Amino acid sequence: MVSRVIPVDSFDLVVFGGTGDLARRKIFPALYRRYVACQMPEDSCVIGAARTDYDTAEYRKVIGDAIREFGGSAAKEDKKLKEFLARVHYVKIDAKGSDGWSDLAGMVRKDLVNAFYFSVAPGLFAPLAERLHEHNIASQTSRIVVEKPFGRDLDSAKDLNGILARHFDEQQIYRIDHYLGKETVQNLMAVRFGNILFEPLWNSQYVDHIQITVAETVGVGGRGGYYDKSGAMRDMIQNHLMQLLCLIAMEPPSRFDPNGVRDEKVKVIKALEPVVPHHIVRGQYEATKTQPSYRDDAGDPKSRTESFVALKCNISNWRWAGTPFYLRTGKKLKARASEIAVVFKDAPHAIFGQEAGRHRNILVIRLQPNEGMTLGVTIKEPGPGGMRLIDVPLDMTFAEALGPEVADAADAYERLIMDVIRGDQTLFMRGDEVEAAWKWTDPVVQGITDRHDVPKPYRVGSTGPDDANLLMKRDGREWREIRE
Ligand code: BG6
Repeated sequence: MVSRVIPVDSFDLVVFGGTGDLARRKIFPALYRRYVACQMPEDSCVIGAARTDYDTAEYRKVIGDAIREFGGSAAKEDKKLKEFLARVHYVKIDAKGSDGWSDLAGMVRKDLVNAFYFSVAPGLFAPLAERLHEHNIASQTSRIVVEKPFGRDLDSAKDLNGILARHFDEQQIYRIDHYLGKETVQNLMAVRFGNILFEPLWNSQYVDHIQITVAETVGVGGRGGYYDKSGAMRDMIQNHLMQLLCLIAMEPPSRFDPNGVRDEKVKVIKALEPVVPHHIVRGQYEATKTQPSYRDDAGDPKSRTESFVALKCNISNWRWAGTPFYLRTGKKLKARASEIAVVFKDAPHAIFGQEAGRHRNILVIRLQPNEGMTLGVTIKEPGPGGMRLIDVPLDMTFAEALGPEVADAADAYERLIMDVIRGDQTLFMRGDEVEAAWKWTDPVVQGITDRHDVPKPYRVGSTGPDDANLLMKRDGREWREIRE
């Protein structure tokens, strides 16, 4: 299967924070891979802007090294890399002062698509936005891209939205949640809304419950300072897992367009019931002989921030009332495995005797690794001796079904950056959506603080604290195994 490359218009993309971690690990490698895929038109340019005193040659060296380190197999093509780097420029800029702005004004071409990636701390959003206008660099058609964390609660998210709204229309603002750029996440919509098969069953009449798991093997490592102020609730649940929940639970939009999709997602968030205290379990990984504990990584021996969270939530609307959603995410777990499992109810009548009741259809959507979908169906065990039932997976691992190139398909950042250039906001969060997500998250976090709740310790390489299993057991259910 050969993937089709849809051309984009020529562009100038300015990356503020152009020497930072995100730029080096994600943004530039993604742009380079799109260049290799012939999706960056000849006369397009990427301009890194930061405080460091580089000239363009020095900057190209930094970016070239980053691409070699993080760009995957495409980065081995020296000729291509050289060509790409010729399109990379640098400007030393003082985000809060006046240095460098007139240079930048001379570099950004008004007749092309222009986009400004704010890969900087949120405290710099206001000065950057102001200067882009003062120096007449941004126009009515410019796009700006912002990253998470988009605030740390409802008030700060509102402030950030307010700051951006002073200078840009909502149609110009692209708030990235990189989970929306993942191939399988988009496939979720294709499967739900491109087939007639699932939609009639996609409700509380047929779905017993839904599990969303994002398990990581990495710890918080060098990000302890940031992470300890956030925890898994703010770092993962409020955004990534919330987005997955929205895509699973939303009503079919009438069209696959930015506002059609986002209107439906907002309705889901607004229908989420508050989480009651005994429906949330938090955990922290413990030290092993060779590895630090969460508290060591966070640099606070008394930290109460969670590196794991499991919770049960309900959506009070016609479709989902009575079907719980279980969300779980954590660091230093048994395996890196993210999946959504839609667990259907038992068949209403067991004509094969009691055994039939134990078999359930489960649709598993695997986000990473081995992207794909599996539908567990019940069949007769082959051979004589009566009707013994077994479950077999109808397995669609994308790399097997569609060819190995899918394994090398565009990653989340490639896809999302190209959507910015195309001017397609469908996979970006709208301001009201982010605020609604915080409005639901804030009381959960506040409740934890008010109860002086202490996270439960869990073993590195485990599935999290035992209480997370109890959360399910109490309801007569169990988590699926975490495995790659
Ligand atoms: C980030 C979080 O947004 O997503 C990290 O801040 C987390 O803590 C990461 O590790 C997970 O992303 P992915 O794509 O590796 O699943």
